[in-house]
Amino acid sequence: MTDQAQMLRNLVMKREQERTARLSNAGQRTAKLITVTSGKGGVGKSNFTLNFALALQSMGKKVLVFDADIGMANIDVLMGVTAEYNLYHLLRREKRIDEIIERGPGFLSFIAGGSGMSELFSLSQSDLNYFTEEIERIAGEMDYIIFDTGAGLSKENFNFIYSSDECLVVTTPEPTSITDAYALIKVVSSKGNDTAFKLIVNRAGDEREADQTADKIMMAAQRFLKVQISMLGYISEDRHVVQAVKKQVPFSIAFPNCTASREVQRIARSYMLVPASTESGTLTGIKGFMQKWLRRTK
Ligand SMILES: Nc1ncnc2c1ncn2[C@@H]1O[C@H](COP(=O)(O)OP(=O)(O)O)[C@@H](O)[C@H]1O
Ligand SMILES: [Mg+2]
Repeated sequence: MTDQAQMLRNLVMKREQERTARLSNAGQRTAKLITVTSGKGGVGKSNFTLNFALALQSMGKKVLVFDADIGMANIDVLMGVTAEYNLYHLLRREKRIDEIIERGPGFLSFIAGGSGMSELFSLSQSDLNYFTEEIERIAGEMDYIIFDTGAGLSKENFNFIYSSDECLVVTTPEPTSITDAYALIKVVSSKGNDTAFKLIVNRAGDEREADQTADKIMMAAQRFLKVQISMLGYISEDRHVVQAVKKQVPFSIAFPNCTASREVQRIARSYMLVPASTESGTLTGIKGFMQKWLRRTK
C-alpha cells in the first residue's frame, strides 16, 4: 500500500472512531442517519435512495431504507413488492419497528411508508418523539439508515433532516430544481442546524453540467449562508432508470452495467471514503438574490 493510501485509511478510521464515540456519548445510536431530500419534487430521490442503499449493501454495509415520504410513499412500488406493514402501523402504535421491516430485491431491508397517511392524521410532537425512540432501538444493528423523504419544506421533512447526521440533497440541472434546493438548504441552516449537506446532481447531461449545477448551489450557500456543502456525485440522465421504474425493479439490479448503475456505485464508494464534515451556518442571504444570480450565470 502506498503511503498516501495508508494515510487516507488512517484518517478515515480516526474520523469513524470519533463519530462512534460522539454517537455513543449521545445515546446508543450507532447507525449513521442519512436523509435524502430535495427542494423540488420528482427529481429522483427515491430511485437514488434505493440504488445507493443497494450499492452500500454490496460493499458489505448493513442498510435500512425508510420510506419517509409522508403521503406519497412509493419505495415499495419501485421495488415491486407489497409490504404487509408500514409506517402507519408504527405510528399508530400497532407494531414495533422490528416488525415492520420488510425485505426487497437484493434482500434490502426497508420500511414502507403509509400511502395517503397524511390524510388520515398529521404527526403530533409525541408521534415524532415515539418515532425517534423506535429508530434508536434498531440503530445499533445498522450501519446506515436512509430516509427517503418527500420534497420541500414540510414539518416532517425538517424533523428527518434535523435528526439526521447528514442530509443528501438531490437536484437536477433545471433552474427550478436548483433554486428549490438552495431554498431548502437556506431554511434548514437558518435554524442553526449543524446537519452536513451533500449534493447529488441527478439527470445530468454530462459531468460538466453536473459540476456547474453543484457549483451554483455550493457557491451561493458558501457566500450567503456561510454553509460549506460538498458535491457527493452525479447520475446521468439514463433511459434505463425509466425502464427500471416501469419494470418495478431497482435500476442497479435490472441493469447493473448501465451508466446510472455505475455512477451510483461510484457515489457509494466515495461516500464510504470521505468522512462527513459538519459545519453550521448562519443566515446572511439576500432574498431573491439566488434567482438573479442564476439568471446572470446561465
Ligand atoms: N437518472 C435518471 N435518468 C432518467 N430518468 C430519471 C432519472 N432519475 C429519475 N428519473 C425519472 O424521474 C422519475 C421520478 O423519480 P423518483 O425517484 O420517483 O423521484 P422523487 O422520489 O424525487 O419524487 C422516475 O420515475 C424516472 O422516470
Ligand atoms: Mg420519492
